[in-house]
Amino acid sequence: MKHLLSISDLGADGIEEVMRVTDSFVEVSERAIPRVPALRGKTVVSLFYEESTRTRLSFEMAAKRLSADTMNFALSSSSVKKGESLRDTCQTIEAMGVDALVVRHSSAGVPWQVASWVDCSVVNAGDGWHEHPTQALLDCYTIRAQRGSLEGLRIAVVGDVKHSRVARSGVLAFTLLGAEVTIVAPPTLLPPSLVGWPVEVTSDLDGVLTKVDVVYVLRMQAERQTEALLPSLREYTARYGLTRDRVALLPDDAMVMHPGPINRGVEIASDVADIPRSAITRQVANGVAVRMAVLFLLLGQGPSGPLSGMQGPSGPLSGMQGPSGPLSGMQGPSGPSSGARG
Ligand code: CP
Repeated sequence: MKHLLSISDLGADGIEEVMRVTDSFVEVSERAIPRVPALRGKTVVSLFYEESTRTRLSFEMAAKRLSADTMNFALSSSSVKKGESLRDTCQTIEAMGVDALVVRHSSAGVPWQVASWVDCSVVNAGDGWHEHPTQALLDCYTIRAQRGSLEGLRIAVVGDVKHSRVARSGVLAFTLLGAEVTIVAPPTLLPPSLVGWPVEVTSDLDGVLTKVDVVYVLRMQAERQTEALLPSLREYTARYGLTRDRVALLPDDAMVMHPGPINRGVEIASDVADIPRSAITRQVANGVAVRMAVLFLLLGQGPSGPLSGMQGPSGPLSGMQGPSGPLSGMQGPSGPSSGARG
């Protein structure tokens, strides 16, 4: 494959391949010197037009552990501030000789635009409200690591689905791997259309908690209050916040997940974020190995390389397509986009 832009083109086989390759990189990450020469001589650039802690640092760590050279684009001190366009910026960076651009932008569809302008690989690190494919991959990996498989699992995705690229990629990935997904949200935080979403929808959080294997809590964005989508954050927390009392409704082996950054005391109680069944830090840890797998599959040399036995770029991830997919009814690159977060 050349680019990773969307979950929708991976298919179940493609996601499973990323999971298998990730297993190898988890093993690498546990070594005393967690580094392999798989991408020696390659250069990976983080091109983040929007804030990030875990995705940007995780990609950087992943690239370094593969022995790639890394460069970070700092928006605030770049020539973007002098009016340079996105296209000129991308082509300028590519002219220095880079192999992959990891792109985050507040507008949906930007990674597809960038991929059309450059010859190097492009990875979508979050575009507007649209997609965040590596978040979905690391979430699938985290669930698979604990439960063995997603097949038949019941996953509740709770909160601000309307503005969540994490939810869009997650729903796609979870359902491709055989999970049954229920979205739990107030009507004002649902997308305008759920056509094409293979999910159940409810506003009754307490009713679903008793029968889920995973409760996946989305970040509630305080800035959304300006849109009057909710009477108040306090009311949201009372109805949809994952509190200790609500955790007590979960089956004993149910996992609590959140993509981060978390708003303690809003969508998730502070003490709930840190309980043993919370996978939040494991999600972050797995993100490094998952992104190693993605970069390796994009840029690596495959079975003849130092990680022999791993499938390379000729595997089922080859031939990934553009933004049209099974959830094309979801707000994609042409939809509203500003201000989205992970
Ligand atoms: N989950 C996520 O995308 O976090 P960051 O915004 O910190 O990268």
